Amino acid sequence: MCGIVGYVGPRDCTDVLVEALTKLEYRGYDSAGIAVFENGKIEVAKSKGRLSDLVGKMEKEGKPKGHAGIGHTRWATHGEPSDVNSHPHSGRRVTLVHNGIIENYKEIKQFLIENEHTEFLSDTDTEVVAQLLDFYYTGNPIRAIRRVMHEIRGSYALGIVFADRPETVYAVRCESPLIVGQGKGEVFVASDVPAIIKYTKDYYLLEYGEIAVLKNGAVNFCDLHGRMLEKELKTADWDEDSAEKGGYPHFMIKEIHEQPTAVKTTIMPRIENGLPNLSECGITRETLKDINNIFIVACGTAMHAGMVGKYVIEKLARVSVTVDIASEFRYRDPLIGENDLVIIISQSGETADSKAVLSLVKGTGAKTLAVVNVKGSSIAREADMVIYTHAGPEIAVASTKAYMVQLSVMYLLAFEISLAKGKIDEEKCRQLTAQLEQVPEVIDAAINKVVDECQYISTKLITADSLLYIGRGLDYALSMEGSLKLKEISYIHSESYAAGELKHGTISLVEEGMPVIAVATQNTLLEKTVSNIKEVKARGAMTIVICDEKAEIDEEAVDYMIRIPQINETLMPMVATVPMQLLAYYTSVNKGNDVDKPRNLAKSVTVE
Ligand code: AGP
Repeated sequence: MCGIVGYVGPRDCTDVLVEALTKLEYRGYDSAGIAVFENGKIEVAKSKGRLSDLVGKMEKEGKPKGHAGIGHTRWATHGEPSDVNSHPHSGRRVTLVHNGIIENYKEIKQFLIENEHTEFLSDTDTEVVAQLLDFYYTGNPIRAIRRVMHEIRGSYALGIVFADRPETVYAVRCESPLIVGQGKGEVFVASDVPAIIKYTKDYYLLEYGEIAVLKNGAVNFCDLHGRMLEKELKTADWDEDSAEKGGYPHFMIKEIHEQPTAVKTTIMPRIENGLPNLSECGITRETLKDINNIFIVACGTAMHAGMVGKYVIEKLARVSVTVDIASEFRYRDPLIGENDLVIIISQSGETADSKAVLSLVKGTGAKTLAVVNVKGSSIAREADMVIYTHAGPEIAVASTKAYMVQLSVMYLLAFEISLAKGKIDEEKCRQLTAQLEQVPEVIDAAINKVVDECQYISTKLITADSLLYIGRGLDYALSMEGSLKLKEISYIHSESYAAGELKHGTISLVEEGMPVIAVATQNTLLEKTVSNIKEVKARGAMTIVICDEKAEIDEEAVDYMIRIPQINETLMPMVATVPMQLLAYYTSVNKGNDVDKPRNLAKSVTVE
């Protein structure tokens, strides 16, 4: 995934592009570049490394000065991160930036070579598009862009400038997200809203196959056939602060602290008279009552939220739920029936594998429900029904608040399905919903209570080569997320394991001093989990136990006990998540890692 931006207006274009790119660095950060019209000529500056490396380079070598241009922050797919592979890429008269992937770039390259366009400098798929556009360009940019769009296959969003069309930026969307911001006498292009929020909250969402032309502070749109379009101007409900760190050292810790509010904003509008009401999302008890099986499909953290969903829906609604990794589900020819429900969970709404599941389900008769954070994203638009989570922008690559709100939606859905299926009555549902309403407060209390302990305990983890997360039932579902969080930002290997399964092989890994983090919030399973904690302790493990304030656990089996505020056992995952996030965060900080932008990762994976 990459981030693209563009600007046409009275401000210093380079400053705007750089500022906007800082808000998109979460999308990719192995190289960056810009192209700006300076005195009618396109000037390019690009560099391997972070955006700060580009800025440093421009400070030394001079920055392009002008009022129209495009910019890019890259997460390499074709060709290693290097100066030459950095965007923008150019043909003779065309310069462009690209987010996405061009599947048939090899054939096109071959075609261009055969037609004597042999000047390829980089290993990227993007340069091929620039050269193809140049090949077809005879003075009419829209005609050339449309021709190219008919020939290239893949997912892409492009920002383009033509050498003989000064002060004009063209933008194109096919699959990869793209918006055009409208300010007073200035216009912006960006892959995501946070990039432009400092300048304007008003934006147009480009749809598949649409082309935008930005000129003289205004924008015009046309479709793939060249027909002019009128588009609806939307207004972002985020303010500038939500895309800034707001005094916190990292986005991740800011986002951890935002969780109580995010959960409140997500659940409160969906509760009416003490009962869940998802009708504004197109979901009624009538639509849920005849559902046979549920499939929850997602990637990474979102899939882990689905795991919690499975336990809760099966427990309360007695409907069979299968949770699958999207990249597996899409190729395993799953048995989906007419009355089944396929739930796709995604923060970004743009994850390639999760998106592919929607096409797979079409034609099976099953209904699709998207649980998505980013409004207007592809998955949200393509599903039959959508529940938006209201976490606001999540910038840190490691997902925290998006996971938390996904959990809250899983609970609301479980309550609603249980009611629809007649497995609980309204009175029981009111009790459960009332407990869910208390969760934001309890999360807040948990953050304040355990933050210092987690900071301290993390100092014991930084030297570990490997560690284990164990739990049973909901605690197992949760430990999967704890383990992922730790490994993605601390770079310490970790594995999550069903506690009862340890003795079937994995316990042989336990040796003197190995940290084992046990999640033990499920009282009905506590005794069993405690036995597993003792087993690893007896083999030399350093045990860290996350449990509620009252859990009776033999202290001798525990090196560090993190006690969290208590709530109904079924809702405990939302509280127990907090120490796991904080342990991961402080371990990463203590190791001196780049917490918000861990190596090799991008915020959302829009390519397969
Ligand atoms: C979370 O910390 C990860 N960075 C990652 O697993 C993420 O949850 C996954 O890529 C799915 O993304 P999505 O929610 O945007 O679909």
